[in-house]
Amino acid sequence: MSVSCVIGAQWGDEGKGKIVDLLAAKSDMVVRYQGGGNAGHTVVVGKRKFVLHLIPSGILHGRECVIGNGVVVDPEQLFAEIADLEAKGIRVRGKLFLSDRANIVFPYHKALDRASEAARGEGKIGTTGRGIGPCYADKYSRSGIRVVDLYDRELFESRLRANVAEKNRMLGLLNAPPLQFREVFAEATAWAKRLKPMVSDTVTQVNDAIDAGRDVMFEAAQGALLDIDHGTYPYVTSSNSDATGVSSGAGVPPGCVKTVIGVAKAYTTRVGSGPFPTELDNALGAEIRRIGSEFGATTGRPRRTGWFDVVGCRHAIRTSGVTELAITKMDVLDAFDTIRICTAYRYRGKTLTSFPADLRTLENARPVYRDFPGWKTATTAARRLGDLPAAARGYLKELEKLLRCRISMVSVGPERNQTVLTGGKLQSATR
Ligand code: IMP
Ligand code: MG
Repeated sequence: MSVSCVIGAQWGDEGKGKIVDLLAAKSDMVVRYQGGGNAGHTVVVGKRKFVLHLIPSGILHGRECVIGNGVVVDPEQLFAEIADLEAKGIRVRGKLFLSDRANIVFPYHKALDRASEAARGEGKIGTTGRGIGPCYADKYSRSGIRVVDLYDRELFESRLRANVAEKNRMLGLLNAPPLQFREVFAEATAWAKRLKPMVSDTVTQVNDAIDAGRDVMFEAAQGALLDIDHGTYPYVTSSNSDATGVSSGAGVPPGCVKTVIGVAKAYTTRVGSGPFPTELDNALGAEIRRIGSEFGATTGRPRRTGWFDVVGCRHAIRTSGVTELAITKMDVLDAFDTIRICTAYRYRGKTLTSFPADLRTLENARPVYRDFPGWKTATTAARRLGDLPAAARGYLKELEKLLRCRISMVSVGPERNQTVLTGGKLQSATR
């Protein structure tokens, strides 16, 4: 597999954590390249459940884990996550490396995230409140503070002083309380000491690993439809959450990734605001939410639910060059009489098969559905393709055809072993 990437092919929460954890068993290094503590990757190992936000899911297999330069890092959250993992017996020290070029999330970013959301009122994005947007905004306006900058005391102090003053003016306009420079400075100075052993020139580290022919896996957070460039802007996250972010977010050549695994649920969910053409804002949607335990891993918010959207997923496949798909939470559909796939949108008398940029179109587009008979059988014990009911295989086969992409894995439960490897045999599998 050499150099691969795992991305979410919908709006996040596709189950990337489980897939990365599985594939990490065969990887030497796992690298996060974008996003930050807004991510919530849930991994179940036996009776234990881990929720990872900043640390790559590869840590559970004791792999070398890298937080790349494209990630925005909240040290407070990182320390809490490390403490939690270590309390559960997972070794983090010596395994986790933090890019010296990564931008740092400060308390004022989180305060601004919340204050701007409150000010947006009805038009709110529904962010996770983790300071992601304001931190990336500082990065691109070139006033951000990177990990390496923490160790240049003079530069750090003057930059932080200017930033706190600027943010306090902004917070004032948003009727939010100001922060005290002294407090922020003291806290960040303590962070610098604790972070030091993890700080690394990860650009060199990751490129060296690739050059040496080691198995390197890039792990995305969020989903391709939340990508700042290719998603449902402005209802997106503030980074390139599709595979296009790998190169800039880790400092590796664009062509180095050979395998791109797109992870998609057998249905669709979205948390936060924004268009969602196949949304089921009804009892059926609530039933999917209940069976699928669709509540945010980071914020606990109920997720919006709906049928599988081929138009959105195809967009993700194309923009990220997805070479194979992992379909997750197949078992959640076990109980339904009819299962639907959206194959196109209808809008103003036209049939759309590519994902529109215009939000009004997306908001008002009517999904065109193809219906499938439910299999009404538990799939949770399936381990091979042949263990899946014929109707379930039929559903997957059709997805493969419509998406024009091979399905290599099907997940039928949270456990590591609740996974069917198709061996690429779906189309030829027995009926
Ligand atoms: P932010 O990334 O916190 O700024 O939030 C922007 C949008 O992305 C909101 O709709 C969030 O709900 C969504 N979002 C951010 N991170 C995740 C994630 O890990 N899974 C699913 N949605 C996310
Ligand atoms: Mg999540």
